[in-house]
Amino acid sequence: MTATQSRTGPLIALRYEAGALWALDQTRLPFEERELALRSAEEVAAAIRRLSIRGAPLIGVAAAYGVALELARDPDSYALERACDVLRNARPTAANLAWAVNRVEAAALAGGPGKRAAAALAEAIAIHAAEEHASVAMARNGADLLADARRIMTHCNTGALAAPGRGTALGVVAELADRGGLQNVIVTESRPLLQGARLTVYELSRLGIAHELIVDSAAAGLIADGAVDAVIVGCDRVAASGDVANKVGTYGLALAAHAAGIPFVVAGPTSTIDPSCTSGNLIEIEERDPDEVRTASGQILTIPGTSCRNPAFDITPARLLTALVTERGTVRPVSTESVAALLSR
Ligand code: MRU
Repeated sequence: MTATQSRTGPLIALRYEAGALWALDQTRLPFEERELALRSAEEVAAAIRRLSIRGAPLIGVAAAYGVALELARDPDSYALERACDVLRNARPTAANLAWAVNRVEAAALAGGPGKRAAAALAEAIAIHAAEEHASVAMARNGADLLADARRIMTHCNTGALAAPGRGTALGVVAELADRGGLQNVIVTESRPLLQGARLTVYELSRLGIAHELIVDSAAAGLIADGAVDAVIVGCDRVAASGDVANKVGTYGLALAAHAAGIPFVVAGPTSTIDPSCTSGNLIEIEERDPDEVRTASGQILTIPGTSCRNPAFDITPARLLTALVTERGTVRPVSTESVAALLSR
C-alpha cells in the first residue's frame, strides 16, 4: 500500500503508525513524494537494499522497526532470529544497522515470550527518539565548530532523509543557515545514484537554503580555487581509529580539503562508531550492481556489458579529518585515543 506525503511541513522520512512502518520512497524523489507501508522484516530489508530507505542512521531505525513488525506477526524466537538476520544483512557498510538490530533483539529477549513484540516496539521507538535528539545536538555542535564558514561543500545526502530529525552533516548546514551566516552550499551530485542531485537539492530547496549543484569531478578544482570555506560530510561507519567509511568520493574531497588547508568535518551520531573495528581497512565496502554505473535514470551510458567497479563507499583516514562531530561532542584531532575518550563520555 502507498500514500502520498504532504509537500509542506517537516520532512518525515519514516513513521510508525497503525501497525506499519511508513517510509518515503527515496528512489522516487525528487519527482514523486510517495510513502511505502512496510509490514514485515523482509519488506523493510528489501526497502533498505533497493535504497527506498537509506542513510546510515535511518536504516538503523528502520531495521529496528522491522524486527518489531515481524514479532507482531509471529512472536516465536525463530522468527526473531530470522528477522534479525535478514535485517542485519540488508547492507554491509553502515554500522547503525547491526547496532540497532542487536539492541532490539536484546530487548525482545529480555521481554520474555509473552512480551517480545511489545518490548521490541518500545526499543525501536526509543532508538528513533534518541537519534532525533542526537541530530539536534550534532547540528549545534557542528555549527559551533564551523561558525565562521559562509560557503560549505557537502557530499551525498545527509539530511532528514538520511537520519531521523535534522540529519547529520546537512543538519549542521541547516543550523548554520538558521544562525544567519551561511551564504551558499555546493552540492556534489554523488554518482551513480545521485543522492546529492536528487535528495540534497530537494532538502535544501525545501529548507530555502541557497545551493549550487556540481558534478563530482568539479569538486577538487573548486576547493583548490577557494570556492568553499569548509567541507562537511556524514559517515556510515567510523572505526575505533577514527577512520571513516562514507559515500564513495568522500576520500577525494578530504584530500582536496587537506591540500587547500580548509576544514574537512565528518558528522554522525555515536551509533555510527564501531569500537570493535580497529581500523578503516577492516570495514566492508558494499559493491553494488554494475548497472548503476552503466546507466543514469534508466538510460544506458556506455557499451552494454562494459566491465565496471561500483564501490558504494570509500575510507578516509582519521588524519585527514579536522574534526568528528557527534551528539556527545566534537572530537579534534581524531585518533584512537580521542574517539575512545568520546565514547566514555
Ligand atoms: O548509499 P547511501 O545513500 O545509503 O549512502 C549514504 C551516505 O553515504 C551518507 O553520507 C551517510 O549515510 C551518512 S549520514 C546520514
